[in-house]
Amino acid sequence: MTKFLLTHPIAGIATIALFAASCTTEGTGEVALGHSDHPMDHHSNARPSEASITHLDLDITVDMDARRIEGSASYDVVRPGRAGRIIFDTEGLEILGVTIDGVGEAAYRLGPKSFLGQALEVDLPPEAERVRIDYRTGPDAKALQWLAPHQTAGGNAPFLFTQGQAILTRTWIPVQDSPGIRFTYTAKVRVPTGLLALMSAENPQRISADGQYTFRMDQPIPAYLIALAVGDLEFRGLGARTGVYAEPSVVEKAAWEFADTERMLEVSEDLYGPYRWERYDVIVLPPSFPFGGMENPRLTFATPTIIAGDRSLTALIAHEMAHSWSGNLVTNATWDDFWLNEGFTVYFENRICEAVYGQDYAHMHHLLGHQDLEATVARLKAKGQTADTHLRLDLTGRDPDEGLTDVAYEKGFAFLRAIEERVGREVFDGFLRDYFDRFAFQSMTTDRFLDHLRINLLEPHGVTMDVAAWVDGPGIPADAVVPVSDRFIKVEAEMERWMAGAPARDLITTEWTTHEWLHFLRALQPGIGAARLAELDQAFQFTASGNSEILAVWLDQSIANDYGVAYERLDQFLTTVGRRKFLVPLYQRLLETEKGRIMAQTIYRNARPNYHSVSVRTIDELLAWKDTSPPVDF
Ligand code: BES
Ligand code: ZN
Repeated sequence: MTKFLLTHPIAGIATIALFAASCTTEGTGEVALGHSDHPMDHHSNARPSEASITHLDLDITVDMDARRIEGSASYDVVRPGRAGRIIFDTEGLEILGVTIDGVGEAAYRLGPKSFLGQALEVDLPPEAERVRIDYRTGPDAKALQWLAPHQTAGGNAPFLFTQGQAILTRTWIPVQDSPGIRFTYTAKVRVPTGLLALMSAENPQRISADGQYTFRMDQPIPAYLIALAVGDLEFRGLGARTGVYAEPSVVEKAAWEFADTERMLEVSEDLYGPYRWERYDVIVLPPSFPFGGMENPRLTFATPTIIAGDRSLTALIAHEMAHSWSGNLVTNATWDDFWLNEGFTVYFENRICEAVYGQDYAHMHHLLGHQDLEATVARLKAKGQTADTHLRLDLTGRDPDEGLTDVAYEKGFAFLRAIEERVGREVFDGFLRDYFDRFAFQSMTTDRFLDHLRINLLEPHGVTMDVAAWVDGPGIPADAVVPVSDRFIKVEAEMERWMAGAPARDLITTEWTTHEWLHFLRALQPGIGAARLAELDQAFQFTASGNSEILAVWLDQSIANDYGVAYERLDQFLTTVGRRKFLVPLYQRLLETEKGRIMAQTIYRNARPNYHSVSVRTIDELLAWKDTSPPVDF
């Protein structure tokens, strides 16, 4: 056992030494990472410098009734130093056996349980090149959400989707679950007949007669990007390389909403180089999906709450698409480097939006993000978590899910925007394009990026910048660029008129888009009172809004001002939508009063079975949830 404990990443000192000792590329002074050099990832038990996987062949059966996946994961393995073992990550998996191709059964051990799951250590004889693990998933696999038919739009077929990021793939596949380890994959997936299976891979466009599907992903990806969805799904093409999958009753609306997708792809390529994943499709999931979107390669997973009916929330598609470069092509080496994924992606997203929807849109979008950042920084500082306002995180000993905040997104974006300001857009675009080309299909650490930035951009252009203040310092540095939005200035003027006594129905709002409404609603004075909200509601019908972003802010204000008219809608929203970004602020707001706390408990009791484990964990903690009694009236 003592020997085994050494396999835990605390023994990663050896890896760190190896990383630091990496050779220096001639002439550039840059640190080069060879294939077997992996940065230390304290969220994986794998020891890739000893042995790592390069290819996965997955062969699984999805049992929608038993809510279980069973089958095998076979891996091609490389071992530069002929190590006598390989370590996989698992969590809650039942391991049925491990075999080595051409050899037979292998000895294996499961390590102690921790928040990282359990290491699976497999002994490798010298000749071993391929390892097969037979397994089945446990009843509470965190990556999986199994939905009963009534939890879907159609109401007549069950649904399954996975969520891998950050460290959940190990709950449905035994794998080296580190973003610094990439591999190609194929999959054979058997599902009940009548259902379509889709993965983050080359995908079918229609339901097969026998419920069998095969998938290929020829580009190497990290484990967090393996994804599977199974349900009653239909496909609609959007453009030559783009399309959308959704339940039959949703697919037309989705196709209309996402009509700009092909254009976004063209714009992206014009900005930062070729799209290297062949197709870009989107799947619209049931509303319990815990995120807005997830950038699974070739197939973005998306919440239906972005279908607003006016294409106003499609920046999310731009965001997930941008990850096809920032994140999926050049990947954060560890979750401490998460800003390299998200900060770059928000910058890229903003550029796509600017090209497709114009500068006004991009500025408004930026400002709303900046407001979020200010709020997040204030909240983290108030909690004494100043280090979490740095771009480079230290998530040692923590579930990454808890430390990943708006900071990586919006401060990361702000950092890149500040660099753009200094070197000029043309130069910065050239730098980014080269970055994606040069480091395609590789992982990136913060240090490696900073070296690259200094050598290839800042020094050649004679730019001095306090990079450390951005990366390892707190809050928002002074050189952040905050745009001025004429359209928001007009919103503020209308707000002032209303506050000064003009009736709500007389406000000049006919040209307003979602962004303006969001700015308006966010800016309502604290304690404005239910009567004033009622006036707004009568004029603009916020309680009945079908726009999830507007509704979420409105419901938040309704709770804050005890505007009871909106409570039924609040209950309905919290019970059907599982997107954590909406849930957390609303439950938090409810907790501010005793009446609200009781409401939160009552609603959550019914809503909890509809949420994905990711949201359940967060809200359980928020509400100090203990009650395990079954929901009522559901
Ligand atoms: N990759 C993230 C989602 C994620 C992050 C999942 C960390 C698990 C751990 C995705 O690209 C994302 O950022 N989604 C956002 C939407 C975006 C427009 C900011 C979301 O879900 O709200
Ligand atoms: Zn993202």
